[in-house]
Amino acid sequence: MKDVNKDSNCHDSEITVRQAVFADVRSIYSLIKENDDMLIVRSISDVVQHIDRFLVADSGGELVGAIAFEILPEVGDVTRTSIELQSVCVKDGWRHRGIGKRLVEAQIERLRPLKAYQFVVLTFSEKFFEKLGFVEVPKTTMMHKIYMGCINCTKHESPFTCPEKAMVLHLSED
Ligand SMILES: CC(C)(COP(=O)(O)OP(=O)(O)OC[C@H]1O[C@@H](n2cnc3c(N)ncnc32)[C@H](O)[C@@H]1OP(=O)(O)O)[C@@H](O)C(=O)NCCC(=O)NCCS
Repeated sequence: MKDVNKDSNCHDSEITVRQAVFADVRSIYSLIKENDDMLIVRSISDVVQHIDRFLVADSGGELVGAIAFEILPEVGDVTRTSIELQSVCVKDGWRHRGIGKRLVEAQIERLRPLKAYQFVVLTFSEKFFEKLGFVEVPKTTMMHKIYMGCINCTKHESPFTCPEKAMVLHLSED
């Protein structure tokens, strides 16, 4: 894995982006819950069971950002497997300093060796992801996600009327 702390886009050089550990679970849980208007809330046990999928932004022991991922299989074609970026959040008061960008880039670098078909995100923050190269696609191109996640969401009657945008990023071969 590339040394994510060598990326210089984050203006706060004292912030470390690192693998999450079990001691971070409560802070991750709270950070996601504080953003329940934008994110799917996760239980403590969900965060514990998926701790290996989280990276966190750490400022001198204070957890100021987090990101996770989930693999989305495509039935019948393993070469079209997607990776969804989930629970992308930066603590209020720490935003617009490049931390979110650094978390997304670090997670993508970490997962790049898997050679996924694409990275996907379902988000209300489309401008942020546009800046990172993501483009909007019809939700109908993500039926796995619709059936496995969106279908149980209580916020909107249908995933297709939900204002969240589906966005994808294809990495260049290198
Ligand atoms: C979205 C979020 C993660 C962005 O984190 P952040 O640390 O403020 O983002 P960054 O500072 O790294 O911004 C990167 C770029 O996106 C832009 N950007 C960030 N948030 C933006 C927004 N809401 N609208 C427009 N542009 C935005 C920044 O201006 C910056 O552009 P630049 O590279 O040209 O300077 C943060 O606002 C957040 O936690 N929101 C609540 C949870 C959420 O919506 N998560 C995404 C759902 S998956």
